[in-house]
Amino acid sequence: MKVLFTILALVGFIVGAVTAYAVTTAQQNASDRWNAYLTKPAAKPGDPSNGEYIANIAGCVVCHTHYAEGGALLAGGVVIETPFGIFITPNITMSKQAGIGDWSDKQFAKAVLLGLNDAGNHYYPAFPYNAYTNMSAQDITDLFAWIKTVAPSSEKNQTHQLSAIAQYRTPIGAWKALYFKSKASDALDERGAYLVNGPTHCAECHSPRNFLGGITGDSMNGNSRGPDGEAVPGISASDLEQWAIEDINLFLEVGITPSGDLTGGHMADVIEYNTSFLTPEDRLAIARYLKSENNL
Ligand code: HEC
Ligand code: HEC
Repeated sequence: MKVLFTILALVGFIVGAVTAYAVTTAQQNASDRWNAYLTKPAAKPGDPSNGEYIANIAGCVVCHTHYAEGGALLAGGVVIETPFGIFITPNITMSKQAGIGDWSDKQFAKAVLLGLNDAGNHYYPAFPYNAYTNMSAQDITDLFAWIKTVAPSSEKNQTHQLSAIAQYRTPIGAWKALYFKSKASDALDERGAYLVNGPTHCAECHSPRNFLGGITGDSMNGNSRGPDGEAVPGISASDLEQWAIEDINLFLEVGITPSGDLTGGHMADVIEYNTSFLTPEDRLAIARYLKSENNL
């Protein structure tokens, strides 16, 4: 009996220590991002035209605008089906009643960089803050400046329809402790690395995930069960060995593969609503980064 208790106590201690370590690491990670935002604030006042560009290439527009039903720009209502249930995106226009009209710049940055609302509650990672945490203070400031120019909509938020265990937000804290990681800022110095790991969030679909929906590892080598159960091919430099930089560039503009096929599934939407908006320079920067040794 005594041995059993000792073993249980030991197991409890180890689980506790690992959890505490993970939580501390995540808090450290989050506080590093937040300190970086506070200590290296945007050098220039918000520029709505860059903000609109980022909102398109980052997918804020397509995920928060219900195009299929002629929904107003950024008024939400888009349904996202996941293994954890159905998420319905919120209204992020500046309506004070229905949207985020009374938010400060800091509240907005906290949501996008840390996945936290003003009260400190966690957002679900269906909002891809896992990648947006790598975005610069300037791009976030510009994004909010643009959102302020969009007409407020009074469209009401709808409640997500989630499975019993996914309904509570507190466990997202534990999830974040395990899987929410930002890249070191020097890994983002190059434009292509920044775009891929920050706004355009390629890894959100192209990296393997475990049963908890956490991205495992650092490489974008494919996910056999991507969004809607669709398989997503790898796009690490070795996966793309047969692709020339020009092939990737053309693909991100119009969706044609080197063998002349048109891409399908979610990638067709990513091209239509996100990557086709990229400037030629940014598209080329992404293609170069994907083929580089930093994307193994
Ligand atoms: C893949 C779809 C998707 C994309 C892309 C996306 N979001 Fe969201 N966003 C969501 C979902 C889902 C939620 C709700 C999360 C929750 O309830 O925890 C959300 C929540 C938010 C919120 C919180 C709103 C509130 O009322 O509390 C803000 C702000 C927001 N998103 C801004 C953005 C911005 C800015 C971008 C682009 C940089 C963006 N989103 C891109 C899906 C998305
Ligand atoms: C919403 C999920 C999603 C996101 C985000 C996404 N992709 Fe994809 N991607 C896919 C899927 C699914 C396919 C496979 C499409 C098919 O079956 O034709 C694909 C295919 C590709 C291919 C073709 C690979 C091959 O071997 O055929 C490339 C290249 C690619 N994506 C690059 C990117 C880049 C670069 C980004 C970020 C800018 C990105 N993707 C973001 C889902 C996504």
